[in-house]
Amino acid sequence: MKSISVGLLGLGTVGSGVVKIIENHQNKLMHQVGCPVTIKKVLVQEINKMRQVDIDKNLLTDNANDILFDKEIDVVIEVMGGVLEAKEYLLTALRQGKNVVTANKDLMALHGSELLSAASEFGCDLFYEASVAGGIPILRSLVDGLASDHITQLMGIVNGTTNYILTKMSNEGRSYDEVLKEAQELGFAEADPTSDVEGLDAARKMTILATLGFSMPVNLDDVTVSGISKITEEDLRYGKQLGYTMKLIGFAHREDEKVEVSVQPTFLSDNHPLASVQNEYNAVYVYGEAVGETMFYGPGAGSLPTATAIVSDLVGVIKNLRLGVNGRSTVSPQFPKRLKDDSE
Ligand code: NDP
Ligand code: HSE
Repeated sequence: MKSISVGLLGLGTVGSGVVKIIENHQNKLMHQVGCPVTIKKVLVQEINKMRQVDIDKNLLTDNANDILFDKEIDVVIEVMGGVLEAKEYLLTALRQGKNVVTANKDLMALHGSELLSAASEFGCDLFYEASVAGGIPILRSLVDGLASDHITQLMGIVNGTTNYILTKMSNEGRSYDEVLKEAQELGFAEADPTSDVEGLDAARKMTILATLGFSMPVNLDDVTVSGISKITEEDLRYGKQLGYTMKLIGFAHREDEKVEVSVQPTFLSDNHPLASVQNEYNAVYVYGEAVGETMFYGPGAGSLPTATAIVSDLVGVIKNLRLGVNGRSTVSPQFPKRLKDDSE
């Protein structure tokens, strides 16, 4: 098989991790997919900016069309963030017959159904494992690993930035502002951290989890959301004295056709399994009628953990290309609309 060419949209925290993994794990990738994987072009805003990774400057472009209309590019990886522009780029890529991998939960929570329909229409894959819980393969676990079960409850810590802030405030008595700044410097926070601290990022992830877990469309507007920006060190200290730890908890419950989803700061007893999840780590508890309780744990944000999910999606895309089953993969997390489209 010819080598696979990748176009990367974005070279920030996550994009740099993608470049590193593709370069450093080339032998492993060759073994997995049977051909070399190369990055052909990278979209950025500022070509001359200092980068977190060594990269040939000739690969950089500030014109998305250099990637979207390059016939040699097989897969587009979107790690630039934002909604409208990213959506336009991905729709264009799909129309051009390119497979897509994205880490963009804002986009998938709002327009996932439309994008997945487009992927199906143009016979392409659209994978988005990195959009929820960074390095934890939770979407595949829900869609494939637990495919036979009836999931009724999902609960967890799905935002790394807020968990980092609450952990440092509680364990080290540091101020909210100081720790938020540190989370931004470490690359955990969104470009505008308001969506992290006000719970919207977690709400978007819970929307994706509930939609996939419960196999029914869940609307972001129906999620009850409250963030951590008003939580004080005093609140955390009092909780601690009484044996409680505060976490920003996403909760989704389904009873028959009724689904309830919320994100809110919650005091957990210190011996609750989620109370021990520290720093940027995430954990997702899943209850299925047949399997019972399961729990998934790992790094929920950051360059290499997130990039691992992306490059693993890339491996899935290339395996599908080899099998000639693009857009029809059994491992593709799908929104219900796509399932409906597939059966039509
Ligand atoms: P960064 O802000 O670090 O990087 C964004 C990159 O995209 C930059 O290289 C920037 O260019 C480029 N970019 C942004 N807008 C444009 C545009 N309009 N045109 C061209 N290039 C553009 O973001 P992250 O890497 O942190 O996040 C990327 C995506 O991954 C987001 O959707 C985020 O939600 C998601 N994500 C992030 C995680 C994390 O831990 N950070 C974890 C999981 C998902 P330039 O460098 O020139 O400014
Ligand atoms: N800002 C996000 C977080 C990145 O802190 O969880 C991972 O999606």
